[in-house]
Amino acid sequence: MSSDVIGSVLFTREQIEARAAEIGKQIEEDYKGKEIVLVGILRGAVMWMADVMKNINLDMEIDFMAVSSYEGKKSSGIVKIDKDLKCDIEGKDVIIVEDIVDSGVTLNYLVGYIATRGAASVKICSLLNKPANRKVDLDVAYIGFHVEDLFIVGYGLDFDQKYRNLPYITFLEE
Ligand code: IMP
Ligand code: MG
Repeated sequence: MSSDVIGSVLFTREQIEARAAEIGKQIEEDYKGKEIVLVGILRGAVMWMADVMKNINLDMEIDFMAVSSYEGKKSSGIVKIDKDLKCDIEGKDVIIVEDIVDSGVTLNYLVGYIATRGAASVKICSLLNKPANRKVDLDVAYIGFHVEDLFIVGYGLDFDQKYRNLPYITFLEE
């Protein structure tokens, strides 16, 4: 049994789905006539990516990458690619789909990596933005919600691999 104490609900499933619909439609408008690839960052982005992609009525591909930088609640600051892209992104417009932007180190690295693989453009679509500990300057084009400096879990986000399945966003009490 875990001794973690779960906080109150910050965003419900309905709120998240409604926001995903708005962002999906925005992406559809912004990328009309383009060949887009959504790159989901495993594993945190899965629920959010599923919500957003079903609201984008364009021809598109999806792919996934897995990277690691976090152990427990603290970032190591080093990004390692555990699973690389399958599809060829050369000349394509890529949208990286992520669960949360915290220090920004992971996404800053990924944006650079995807650019070196020849993408025509790279933008970020993140479920959450936690600007309190930002370490690098990063442009996040599509943001679901802003959160305070809390340790967030649920809707894909984990603490030591737990709580990803919660159908809402909450946080762990200190
Ligand atoms: P960053 O490189 O510091 O921006 O961290 C990115 C990754 O850290 C995210 O993709 C998450 O996997 C993880 N992370 C950052 N903050 C939280 C949090 O509050 N809860 C769960 N995971 C987090
Ligand atoms: Mg993540």
